[in-house]
Amino acid sequence: MVNPQFNLNNEQNKVKEKMSKVKHKIAVLSGKGGVGKTTVAVNLATALAESGYKVGLLDLDIHGPNIVRMLGDKHPTVEDEEMVPAEILPNLKALSIGMLVEAGKAVIWRGPLKHSAIKQFLGDTKWGELDYLIFDLPPGTGDEALSLFQTLGKIDGVVIVTTPQKISLDDVRRSIDFVHSMNQKLIGIVENMSYVRCPKCGEKIEIFGNGGGEILVKEYNTELLGKIPLDPKAAQLADEGKPITLYLRETEIEKVFRNIAEKVVQIVEK
Ligand SMILES: Nc1ncnc2c1ncn2[C@@H]1O[C@H](COP(=O)(O)OP(=O)(O)OP(=O)(O)O)[C@@H](O)[C@H]1O
Ligand SMILES: [Mg+2]
Repeated sequence: MVNPQFNLNNEQNKVKEKMSKVKHKIAVLSGKGGVGKTTVAVNLATALAESGYKVGLLDLDIHGPNIVRMLGDKHPTVEDEEMVPAEILPNLKALSIGMLVEAGKAVIWRGPLKHSAIKQFLGDTKWGELDYLIFDLPPGTGDEALSLFQTLGKIDGVVIVTTPQKISLDDVRRSIDFVHSMNQKLIGIVENMSYVRCPKCGEKIEIFGNGGGEILVKEYNTELLGKIPLDPKAAQLADEGKPITLYLRETEIEKVFRNIAEKVVQIVEK
């Protein structure tokens, strides 16, 4: 008869073995939906890869996996009964449940199933040697984030994404409280959709107000990693599966993403 305890330990050992080859692990989180977590995770990963690091990107948003669309229609393969993540760049690999299920089909799983899927994404996947593994999480402080932190223990840290709107701060405070209660390090705050540049005069228009990021930075004594402009071209490129840092060269938004990646490296590797 199968000994469930044995399997559990075996699964945990596989996670341990695979994750021991990953130097740095970073989660991207936010209390609010639609603020740009996936955009930040994808562009942080591509910016790091372009700086020469070996990078992995794991989509842990089981119910709303968006990484697939943002990276184009790439798929993992199977080798020795393990998944091989999709190759996005020679030194960037990505894996998402959205690459495994038919487009438009809902994944209807409760907590325990999600927990087991997350363990397989970590332990039954050929990630190989990586400098950075970035985890894109769903909004809030639910099963996925809990499973990740329970499975891996302390990771290098968490990047929190917010908009400048004060109304989103309560949600963000809840996520920071969650990060602290899970005994994880807060790397810093990314403020997304901070402003739009007027296409005629170039003036900054702060459509969601201002100051949200700064308030949090003061309150939690953390870093403001960057203020990302709202750029209609970036939204269009995301729909076409083209990451900003690879397709909007020499633009303000691209530079902001590269600065964010540099700051994250400085904080994590210090
Ligand atoms: N700075 C930006 N400029 C233009 N469009 C953006 C920007 N940031 C995000 N978007 C767009 O806004 C939408 C939401 O972004 P994204 O999917 O990254 O948010 P999210 O926080 O991951 O959402 P969810 O909570 O559903 O996981 C996407 O269509 C994305 O392309
Ligand atoms: Mg998302």
